[in-house]
Order: sequence, then structure tokens, then C-alpha cells
Amino acid sequence: MNTPYWVAGQAASSDDLVEVRSPHDGSLAGTTSNASAEDVERAVAAADGVAEEFASLPAHARAAALDHVSRRLAERSDEVAALITAESGKPLKWSRMEVARAVSTFRWAAEEARRFSGELQRLDTDPAATGRMALVRRAPRGVVLGIAPFNFPLNLVAHKVAPAIAVGAPIIVKPAPATPLVSLLLGSLLAETDLPAGSWSVLPVPNEVAASLVDDPRLPVVSFTGSAPVGYGILDRVPRKHVVLELGGNAAAVVCPDWTDLDWAAQRIATFSMYQGGQSCISVQRVYIHRDVYDAVADAVVAHVRKLGTGEPDDPSTDVGPLINEAAARRVETWVDEAVAGGARLLTGGTRDGAAYAPTVLADVPEDCKVVDEEVFGPVVVLAPVDSVEDAFAKVNSSRFGLQAGLFTHDVRVAFRASKRLQVGGVIVGDVPSFRADQMPYGGLKESGTGREGVHAAMEDLTEQRVLVLTGLDL
Ligand code: SIN
Repeated sequence: MNTPYWVAGQAASSDDLVEVRSPHDGSLAGTTSNASAEDVERAVAAADGVAEEFASLPAHARAAALDHVSRRLAERSDEVAALITAESGKPLKWSRMEVARAVSTFRWAAEEARRFSGELQRLDTDPAATGRMALVRRAPRGVVLGIAPFNFPLNLVAHKVAPAIAVGAPIIVKPAPATPLVSLLLGSLLAETDLPAGSWSVLPVPNEVAASLVDDPRLPVVSFTGSAPVGYGILDRVPRKHVVLELGGNAAAVVCPDWTDLDWAAQRIATFSMYQGGQSCISVQRVYIHRDVYDAVADAVVAHVRKLGTGEPDDPSTDVGPLINEAAARRVETWVDEAVAGGARLLTGGTRDGAAYAPTVLADVPEDCKVVDEEVFGPVVVLAPVDSVEDAFAKVNSSRFGLQAGLFTHDVRVAFRASKRLQVGGVIVGDVPSFRADQMPYGGLKESGTGREGVHAAMEDLTEQRVLVLTGLDL
């Protein structure tokens, strides 16, 4: 059956049919249609028209809707995970993890909606303001255009939808063309709520049509997750809009000589450089290992990578699936081949089969190779020895990206130094950079983006402060 899209909370379809196929074997995951120009206009006009009403909706109503979505996702988690796997090729174990995270993202948003109250600020710190107090609250900036990527087709949509509902900002979601089905399923859960018509729409449209949505003055906030060139293209196009960009990275992990369980570090590095084919902005791409422990860690990483399951995506024991399409796998192949031609040593992997690229570990890679410098977004990790922690920090920072870094150390002083010195949005001590809890602020420095997601942080980002000064108070 043709999966409908959602216009102002109502199911709709058009003649512009879209087949969604698994990158693993080309099997049909489902069909939908691209939203017609009339439906896009209806969605935008309805969102614009309902913005004031939605901003005034009581917190309990917004929280109830968010709780409902969280509960329904949990109830239907097997089906939702299977759909993520069918349309994206993501191994089932990671799809299940993603659904569990989306359940939590919506639940957190419900809780945050209940306590998002603003703060009181006393003003009687100067004689001229005796008896005065400010109430600082936040109000939605306006309708949000949420442009989502393919790599977390549910949870990165949840990170746009849930905070928008929590603050009462209407949202129009544009899912990634490769993976629209799960966000349309999410639409069917939103349709079960009492949220006002117009407060949300899910519109599959080709990327070219998204440009006119970006330009539309009725959508003053654009929240984009995806590649840096597209993200900066949006910023350049609408510099006066509020633009949130969650872009890429070439995340690094540092293994310090004091770290005791080297095998565990190696196992985490192996798993999280390859999970979902390396298609995460915080998958481990660069690993800087102190020379004292380099051989032990490198050998263990290779051993753990060789153990990863690369079978059918819907087999729960599969760790690494295909990339989103064959072109992506060919690009990764070219970059690895370039590195090897430049002198890199291939420790394992380095082969391609259609859209699947074998989990690959490289050493002795020249620093100007793309597998070091650019975002690989594939199952490739580069190992390099360092002489000191300072040396490692310099290498982590020698990137134009800065999303998250992982730091294997037991020394709290090194951890604090890292948090101050590393040019990244988050440092994960005792684990890989790929750790993310959905309630924590998440976002990058440098070319990894601007603004923050993570439920509360996104609620702040989607709103602006409004100050109400009260006068003549007996303080
Ligand atoms: C991303 O790829 O930016 C999202 C990573 C995550 O949510 O775990």
C-alpha cells in the first residue's frame, strides 16, 4: 500500500510515486509519493496560521501528545525497527537501539515541556530599579522547517519534532529522500494525538524542492542535519533566518598510556567506527594511541573489527550493513585506495561489494589523505601513534570539524584539560566519541555546525527570550 504523507495532520498522496528500496539487496521497503506543490503550500499556510494558537497550547496538552508518541513507538518498536532496517539497510540491532532512543527523546521532551517555565531575575541591584523584577520566559521563534538525514531516519527526526512540539512551534519535516517511510510512520502516531491541525506536517519532497521551503519567509527557523556543503549552502541562502546546523565530523578517539583495559577500548573503537556502516557523524574515524600502548591497541582493534558480523541487515547478529547506496560505497573505496596509494597500510578490509564496504582499518596514513581530513561516513578507521597526550590533542584539533572526541584516560586532570583544550562540542571520557545520550546538548564547533540539539538545548534554540519587567513590588 502507498504510504501517505502528512499535510497539516491529514494523510495525503500525489501521483508522483516514490519507491523506497533497501540498499542491501534492492528489495522494496515500501512506496510513498512526493508531496504536490499544492500540498506543500497547504502545509506551510496551515503551520503559519496555527503558530499563535500552538504557542498558547497548555503544557499538559503538548506533554500528553509527546508521551503518546513515546508510548506508541515503544509498543510498535519491532515493526518500526524492521522498517528502519528495510529502508536504510541499517542492521536490526542498531535499528532497535534507534527506536529505543526515539522513545526516550519523546519522553524527555514531554518532561521538559512540563518544566520549561523561564526564570525570575531580581533587578533591585541598583537604586533605580528598586521594587522591580524581571520574568524571563522563552517564546517560539516561529514555524520550524526540519530537514533530516538518512542515517538516523527516526531519531534525528525525533530530535527536530519533539522539541518543536514541546515549545509549541509548528514544524514541517522534510525526511531524507532515501528514508522517508519511518518518518511517515511517525506521522501516523502524531495523527493519533490532539495536536492542532497545521502544527505538524511530514512532506517527502526531492532535495531541489526543499530550497523553496528554505526560502519561504513563513518558515523562520531551519533546522538541518546533514553534510557541511548543504548546511552552509542553507546558511548562505537565508542568513537572516535562525538556522541550526548539525553537520559532519571526523571524530577522534585518544588512548592515553594510563588506560588500563586496552582490549575494552579497542573493542569500543572497533564497534563504533563501523556501526551502521560508519554512517554517523560521531563514528570513530581517527584514533590517536600513545606509542607505549600502540601495538597492543592496534592489534586488538584489528582483531575486534574482524569479528564484526557483516551478514544480512535483518539478522540480529549483524553489526555492519551496507552504505546508503553504491555511490557512497564507491566514494569510500576511492578514498581508501588513494590513501593506500599514498603509503597507508591496510590492516584489514579494503574491499567493496555493491553498496557494502568491508570494515577497514588503516595505519601509517599521510595526514593530508581524505580518510583523515574529510568525513568518511563509511566503515573506515585510521590508527596513528602519538608521543604524548599534548601531541594527541593537537592532532584532534588539526581538523576543520569539531563534533565530539573520545578520551580513554583515568586521569581526571587530563579529562579537564581535554574539555578546555579540545575544539569539540563534547568530550567523552572513558569511551568513544560516538556516545550520545539524547537529553544532553549535542552539536559541533568549527565546520561541524552551529546551534545545539539534545532535547532541552533544542528547545532553547527554537525559542527566544522575552522579558517581562514587573514594577512596584514589595521584594
Ligand atoms: C549524527 O550522526 O549526528 C547523530 C549521532 C547520534 O545521534 O548518535
